[in-house]
Amino acid sequence: MPDDPIPTVFAMSNPLHPVSQQIRGHGVAAIILDDIRWQRCHIKAISLLPNILLRQEALDQNAAEAILIRDGFATEGAASNLFVVSGGILATPSTGPFLLPGITRDLILELAETNNIPHCEKNISRDDLRNADEIWLTSSTKEILPVTRLDDAPIASGQPGPLFQHMLALYQNYKQQLRNQ
Ligand SMILES: Cc1ncc(COP(=O)(O)O)c(C=O)c1O
Repeated sequence: MPDDPIPTVFAMSNPLHPVSQQIRGHGVAAIILDDIRWQRCHIKAISLLPNILLRQEALDQNAAEAILIRDGFATEGAASNLFVVSGGILATPSTGPFLLPGITRDLILELAETNNIPHCEKNISRDDLRNADEIWLTSSTKEILPVTRLDDAPIASGQPGPLFQHMLALYQNYKQQLRNQ
């Protein structure tokens, strides 16, 4: 590292293609893969080759996202954060070096808190994923996306769940309020 690096700014923009109603209405498929990334996944860096390889493996298996497992517990998606609903409680893995603390993740937790939705941060195992009532992926571009198939088996009924519908409405309402300010 140079002693006195001069910061540079690089910006680019692309059209944002929102997730279609049809995809959100049906949910997406995900696969479980080993988290092969490094030890500093909380750093928002552009060196994302492992994430890209993991996402590509998901696409090659006709899935939209890879849910990553490290040392027996889920961390996040290849380009998204992870939420699981079981017994009415919304859970997400705790922040730390192994996942990116996404801004959408933060907002979901804030909306859960302000709307009295039981929620927690905890370890989520492979079995917790398989037995979940609902699984969601979150990111700024995808917002909230329900996972309805995991490794070719349906999650619960195989349909987006009721807490997802509720949270999506809260999320869209939050956005609308910001626009009205
Ligand atoms: C690895 C990873 N985790 C989580 C996220 C979600 O972050 P955010 O909600 O800030 O878009 C992303 C977004 O690109 C990501 O690449």
